Amino acid sequence: MMTQSSGALRRAGRRLLSSAALLTIVSFALVASLAACQGGAPQQQTQTPAAQPAAMSPVEQGKHLVATMVCNDCHTPWKMGPAGPEPDMSMMLSGHPQALVMPPPPKFPEGPWMWAGSGTMTAFAGPWGVSFSANLTPDTTTGLGAWDEDMFIETLRNGKHMGTGRPILPPMP
Ligand code: HEC
Repeated sequence: MMTQSSGALRRAGRRLLSSAALLTIVSFALVASLAACQGGAPQQQTQTPAAQPAAMSPVEQGKHLVATMVCNDCHTPWKMGPAGPEPDMSMMLSGHPQALVMPPPPKFPEGPWMWAGSGTMTAFAGPWGVSFSANLTPDTTTGLGAWDEDMFIETLRNGKHMGTGRPILPPMP
């Protein structure tokens, strides 16, 4: 996968390193390009050891970021576990389950209650309408498999589907 390191990917990777490195890490393809970026710099001796990230590989770092930056809270369906609700990691980042057809959302009375969510944490209703967590797996038809890295980066930066499409609804932004 390291061989996919085109100049464009390296440039994209550099852009990411400052503020949004975590954004690359959901898709393993994106992780690979970041690996190419981070792997290249030390070989060129352009970074001091002190500037190196912790001794995690980019894939490990990405896994850590996805786990700690709450992507699983909404993009992995939740189930009831022995200690209470927990993300069903056998469905990691697969979005709202296709089989879970939601009824119409509740109507809220005037007042501070404004939104509702499914027990899976993958369907939401509020003033914006109804939204379903997207499939972030590399599936090419229902996930992010057909996306390129720039689309992903732009989406996370501007909140638009594939970087240029419709605005992505709450609670994602
Ligand atoms: C609070 C819930 C929530 C959290 C947390 C969340 N998302 Fe989302 N995300 C959503 C929902 C809901 C959508 C779909 C919105 C829509 O269809 O308009 C979405 C859409 C997306 C999309 C766009 C997919 C598409 O097809 O356009 C991407 C990419 C994405 N999320 C990545 C992430 C990443 C990466 C994280 C963690 C850093 C994350 N999300 C955290 C709820 C969330």
